Amino acid sequence: MPTRPYPSPLRYPGGKLKVANYVKLLFERNNLLDGDYAEPYAGGSSVALALLFDHYAARIFINDLDPAVYTFWRTVLDNPEGLKRLITDTPMTMDEWYNQRRTFLSPDSSPLELAFATFYLNRANRSGIILGGVIGGKQQTGNWKLDARFNRAELTQRIEKIARHSDRISVTNYDAQVFLQQVVPTMNNRSLTYLDPPYYVKGQGLYANAYGPDDHAAVAADVAALTKPWLVSYDNAPQILDLYQQFRPLEYGLSYSAQERRQGGEVMFFSHGLQLPNGISNPSKVPNKFLHKLPF
Ligand SMILES: C[S@@+](CC[C@H](N)C(=O)[O-])C[C@H]1O[C@@H](n2cnc3c(N)ncnc32)[C@H](O)[C@@H]1O
Repeated sequence: MPTRPYPSPLRYPGGKLKVANYVKLLFERNNLLDGDYAEPYAGGSSVALALLFDHYAARIFINDLDPAVYTFWRTVLDNPEGLKRLITDTPMTMDEWYNQRRTFLSPDSSPLELAFATFYLNRANRSGIILGGVIGGKQQTGNWKLDARFNRAELTQRIEKIARHSDRISVTNYDAQVFLQQVVPTMNNRSLTYLDPPYYVKGQGLYANAYGPDDHAAVAADVAALTKPWLVSYDNAPQILDLYQQFRPLEYGLSYSAQERRQGGEVMFFSHGLQLPNGISNPSKVPNKFLHKLPF
């Protein structure tokens, strides 16, 4: 069952919805249906939402260290009406863009104000980068204007749908390592944790909280200590292949060329014992027809 429309209200640089079908196959193959699913680096949380909406996971645990991202998700669950009102009423103009940027940067903003400013800038900016440039440029002379990705009705519906499932969603604001050590142990044994950390090579600058080499190594040690099933995806860097060398790698690119599998490609690693779907060499290209129809 494919997820349509796009489940997350946030646009995310490097968003991982493209691997959602593969993660669904992992659920099917490993008898995880109706289990728990966690993303310690949730960002736009699109895979988690797809698994919840399409009846794979019974509960999802979404965690992000970035206070703005966390506050957005918290507010979707706790105050969806407030967010929806602001989405409907707030003008899409450059004056308002400056205003939302000030709100985003102000330490005095309320949670609702911060959540909405995060959302507004994510939708109005190029590639969804919150402190990046506005779509169409400050003079708004580009072909696309700042409202190009701001369909109020559609975005309001996405927020309503998530809020309707709020009793099955946990949102936290821990460092991923704290999450692995403290939250993952509380989850159902039938669970899958998908880690999508900031890239090793290209991670600097895109998100808040970019990691250095020691952080990646410390995360790898915590991942190796997990006793529940997990997978991790990374940019395909030699240092990452080294850190996860005791686990099975699956290298893939956006195209099928061998060169891209190594350069500019990604790599996944899997916990020992996790059964991989047969015959799939590229987890980002799993057609919907590969998914079994679940009885819902
Ligand atoms: C590569 S993005 C995840 C994208 C996500 N998989 C998606 O599809 O939207 C990485 C996310 O990790 C968060 N992050 C960075 N360092 C973190 C840390 N130490 N602990 C938890 N989250 C962190 C960032 O705020 C960012 O939202």
